[in-house]
Amino acid sequence: MKHKTSEILNMMHQEHIVKHMQTLTEQEQYEMVRQIESLDFSVLNTQDNELKRGTFAPLFATTLLEIEQNRERYTEIGLQAIRHGKVGTVLLAGGQGSRLGFDHPKGMFNIGVEHELYIFECLINNLLDVVKQADAWIPLFIMTSEENNKETREFIEKNDYFGYSSANVFFFVQEQLPTVDTNGKLMLADKGVIKTAPNGNGGWYASMAKTGMLQIVKEAKLEWLNVFAVDNVLQRIADPCFIGAVIESGKVSGSKVVAKADPEERVGVLCLEDGKPSIVEYYEMTDEMIQSRESDGTLSYNYGVILNYLFRVDKLNQTLSVKLPLHRAFKKIPYMTPDGEYIKPEEPNAYKFETLALDMVKLQDDCLAYEVDRSKEFAPVKNKTGVDSVETARELLRLNGVEL
Ligand code: UTP
Repeated sequence: MKHKTSEILNMMHQEHIVKHMQTLTEQEQYEMVRQIESLDFSVLNTQDNELKRGTFAPLFATTLLEIEQNRERYTEIGLQAIRHGKVGTVLLAGGQGSRLGFDHPKGMFNIGVEHELYIFECLINNLLDVVKQADAWIPLFIMTSEENNKETREFIEKNDYFGYSSANVFFFVQEQLPTVDTNGKLMLADKGVIKTAPNGNGGWYASMAKTGMLQIVKEAKLEWLNVFAVDNVLQRIADPCFIGAVIESGKVSGSKVVAKADPEERVGVLCLEDGKPSIVEYYEMTDEMIQSRESDGTLSYNYGVILNYLFRVDKLNQTLSVKLPLHRAFKKIPYMTPDGEYIKPEEPNAYKFETLALDMVKLQDDCLAYEVDRSKEFAPVKNKTGVDSVETARELLRLNGVEL
């Protein structure tokens, strides 16, 4: 074992890893040292929610009514941008979906009942609606993780891209960060392998840069990227009306938002922080902010984000040198004990470190909050049952005429 590596591990109070390494063959030790040298251990010092926040102020949305009044014009502007090849889409599918407890990538989940309808299929169907309307293909970048890349690619390829043009689909893999147990100790994934987890959905653009995707963006002369989560099966992707509204506003980014169901709803709200667009989490809001209303009676902090953003590429390029804040998330993380036993926890047991896509909003000069009707565009599949679950998503799909 390299002397330097064990010294560093000891200094980081990770003596158990040094001990484990001593049980390995020379080749295994070599592999493990290589992995350790490639990992960013500075993240281990991250604490919970210690980010200092600025002064918040409300950010008002372009409302459903305003959108309805301008729908035709916005849609035409958006369709033109798509037809001129200015718009690309980015599917964030590198998450672990631990709350759903499905042993495959979340997009492989069958949300159908009578017939098969996979989440990936559902999203691609939604995007195909726009492809047909615009009569133009829209590049689709799919972010996977080391853990789910192979399965995701094989699944989508096996299903003939669910009718999408394979020439317009580009897979890329996000980076991993180490995970720690509740005592701050590194965990093992396997003999000679440190347990890592995907580094959060905030790293998508940096990962696109590292994996050469930005070359494609540049060559195709894409000007806008619509980034979206894998789990909202009702969302409209590359929505021409949304794209048109953002372009017409002259703003450099846009976010689809939904009006809160009630003041206490636990969603991140799009607002201003020190004059910049930003997202305030429900637990960061004071009672006064939660209850505050405007003169027309609407909540001042009313518009929750649904992880569907439009960013202007030139502005994204400017953010590449900025380090996003790191968050610590308590999750169910499978691991191997020092005795070689594999554990698949039923409850959260360890921390992973992630950057968040919502923190990219704060790096933008401005952001158009674009209201959508939650019953038509928001059906997230997060949990097995209960709130934001397979059941609620199925109900909403049916309500919108999707045959299950
Ligand atoms: P979530 O915050 O729901 O995380 O991701 P998750 O890991 O998928 O699920 P849980 O919390 O373990 O149940 C929101 C979106 O961001 C993507 C997810 O795939 C989903 O589309 N994501 C999340 C990534 O692409 N990479 C990550 O590292 C984390």
